[in-house]
Amino acid sequence: MKELEIISGKPYRIYIDNNLDKLSTVLEENKINSKMKCFLITDDKVYKLHKDVIEKLKKSLNMELYYFKNGEESKDFHTIEGIYSFLIENNCNRNSLLIALGGGVVGDLVGFVASTFMRGIKYVNIPTTLLSQVDSSVGGKVGYNFKGIKNIIGSFHNPEFVYIGTNFLKTLEKKQFIDGLGEIVKYSLIRDDGMLAYLKENYKGILERENDKLLYLVKGCLKIKKDIIEQDYEDLGIRNILNFGHTVGHGLEITSKENLSHGEAVALGSLVAIRLSEDILKLPKRIYNEVEEVLKKLNLPIKHKVDNYKLFMYAINHDKKNDDSIKFVLLSKIGEPKIKMEVTKEQLYHAIKDSIG
Ligand SMILES: NC(=O)c1ccc[n+]([C@@H]2O[C@H](COP(=O)([O-])OP(=O)(O)OC[C@H]3O[C@@H](n4cnc5c(N)ncnc54)[C@H](O)[C@@H]3O)[C@@H](O)[C@H]2O)c1
Repeated sequence: MKELEIISGKPYRIYIDNNLDKLSTVLEENKINSKMKCFLITDDKVYKLHKDVIEKLKKSLNMELYYFKNGEESKDFHTIEGIYSFLIENNCNRNSLLIALGGGVVGDLVGFVASTFMRGIKYVNIPTTLLSQVDSSVGGKVGYNFKGIKNIIGSFHNPEFVYIGTNFLKTLEKKQFIDGLGEIVKYSLIRDDGMLAYLKENYKGILERENDKLLYLVKGCLKIKKDIIEQDYEDLGIRNILNFGHTVGHGLEITSKENLSHGEAVALGSLVAIRLSEDILKLPKRIYNEVEEVLKKLNLPIKHKVDNYKLFMYAINHDKKNDDSIKFVLLSKIGEPKIKMEVTKEQLYHAIKDSIG
């Protein structure tokens, strides 16, 4: 089992393994035992698929279970209200512990409940999707969507620990797995640590979800995320690097009629950002081809027609991460992202036409 320590806000550990065998030891190490009242919160799909894990935990802990309907539509105050009510009905107190078992939606919601219930209680995160294992479970951002705006209500609240079992990824639907790969390609571009070459050489094993490949990718991405959030936990500067590919990605995700997943949209957004980087920061042209080849190998999209350009531009300009002008994260070379790069609408239009369009 590999471990990483995150030292930003309240410090915590990330345990990375291909199974949950050492979870009971980790719980003990963190002083979580049958005397402590625990509340495991998940969604209906994870509950059905991983009932065995939940039953096993129930045997060793004093644990109540709550689950809600899976999917992004559940990431709202209605679900939060349901969790608050459940906690009150079951006498959750300031010494209780919440356990989030699921993807980014479960993690973000449970983390938010933990940050607000009785002015803050403890929680642990056991992420079960590729996206949540390489990204959302670490960094302390928790929250929910409101009035159609993603993650507009939220806070920062670190877990007691994060326990990653890559074997959860074996039950993920193909689309969900590929979704996580989109974020991994982003990581391979913002840091030059050989991950892009690894993706290119090992794509077959990755798509077959071989354990050693999954462990390499999860650990590699989290090391990068750790380094960035430790410098800028509150997302006031350098953490913006993690939004590489996300400005255009966000617009595509909102306007696409083809139902692009987040990771697919980030992959396309990364190609546009690379094209812009060639124009603005003289990024060598060969990188575009190299990334395009990796995306193809990983079954991620490389072409996409913007369905409604007006709505797309509106979505980009109203992205809460932007001020008045369109600001991008661009690359001067692989591993050298530059934040807050100003891009005109004309430059963006031509870059889209000349890349994914
Ligand atoms: N907090 C952060 O820093 C951060 C960063 C990135 C994304 N996010 C958030 O994460 C969310 C997306 O995360 P996600 O893609 O994990 O979404 P998700 O939690 O909705 O999971 C996607 C689907 O996979 C299912 N699932 C989960 N684990 C499974 C498993 N092991 N096997 C089979 N199916 C499984 C879920 O039931 C769901 O249907 C978004 O709401 C996004 O805003 C947060």
